[in-house]
Amino acid sequence: MSFPSRGPNLADRLASPRRDTDRARLRAAVESKTVLITGASYGLGEATARSLGHAGATVVLAARSVDRLDGLAAEIGPRAHTHALDLTDLDSVTTVTDRMLDAHGAPDIVINNAGMSIRRSLALQYDRPQDFERTMAVNYLGPVRMMLGLLPAMRDAGGGHLVNVSTIGVRIPPGPRWGAYQASKGAFDTWVRSVEPELAADGIDVTSIYMALIRTRMSAPTPIMRRLPGLDPDDAADVVAAGLTRRPRRLAPWWVRPTELSGIAADRLVTALYSRSLRHSADSASARGEVVSR
Ligand SMILES: NC(=O)c1ccc[n+]([C@@H]2O[C@H](COP(=O)([O-])OP(=O)(O)OC[C@H]3O[C@@H](n4cnc5c(N)ncnc54)[C@H](OP(=O)(O)O)[C@@H]3O)[C@@H](O)[C@H]2O)c1
Repeated sequence: MSFPSRGPNLADRLASPRRDTDRARLRAAVESKTVLITGASYGLGEATARSLGHAGATVVLAARSVDRLDGLAAEIGPRAHTHALDLTDLDSVTTVTDRMLDAHGAPDIVINNAGMSIRRSLALQYDRPQDFERTMAVNYLGPVRMMLGLLPAMRDAGGGHLVNVSTIGVRIPPGPRWGAYQASKGAFDTWVRSVEPELAADGIDVTSIYMALIRTRMSAPTPIMRRLPGLDPDDAADVVAAGLTRRPRRLAPWWVRPTELSGIAADRLVTALYSRSLRHSADSASARGEVVSR
């Protein structure tokens, strides 16, 4: 299921982090560099891989859907390489990470993009501990395991750049039904921010991107997302490009900071508003178990 593609209008642009559409600047930032992109088989990861491949990077594509990765690699050309990676299988993450280091050396840039979201009412999760276990594995434990394997090699190579694709949800007051997703994305965001000083000492820069809505298969099952401003994957890849060309420590829509501060100041009010909002929205067919979530 996917949304029809359309360019970003003013509302889409205002809702989303800053983009960089300057192809020459992107080429200068990534040409001849080795970039590992997790979750390159769909959505933002696929679009990012395509844009970086066309900008002259050597792209190392990782995800479970190897057939899709191979198709994308064939399209990009000989500088694209694929690796089967299942972030929920922690031991295999270490094996795959070692294999990638053997084959391509330390990456200059790691784009931690693979992710899994769930929007489901708590009452539908009483018998679903797997919602919490899977989101923690894909969004936190797997990426940490991968970074533990990559970081010594990156440090020994003199440094690099970690770009973490996070969500505005870890900055603005966390909304109901998103608990499993937000907690797992928040866990990795907190880990990245807490190791950032140690990474800086090793010459590794960090860019945390707090994405707003992207129209991908991740957001497709939630009907309300169709009415909200957001970006198509190719346009969202230009946000990642801004992270690579400008290397900011944080990249978020302009309105996230004031919302974050207001949420702290008006905590009770926000909780009351979220409670009211539950009366006007429902769980999607996917959340009710009628569609399998990924
Ligand atoms: N869509 C949004 O509105 C939105 C908003 C804010 C932030 N984000 C973040 O943006 C990133 C990209 O999301 P997207 O919208 O592009 O989602 P998507 O289209 O569903 O793509 C998710 C990617 O993650 C990979 N993945 C999922 N489970 C995996 C696993 N167990 N092991 C390895 N790879 C796995 C998938 O590949 P396989 O299935 O082939 O493994 C796929 O390539 C995510 O980190 C997400 O949290 C998205």
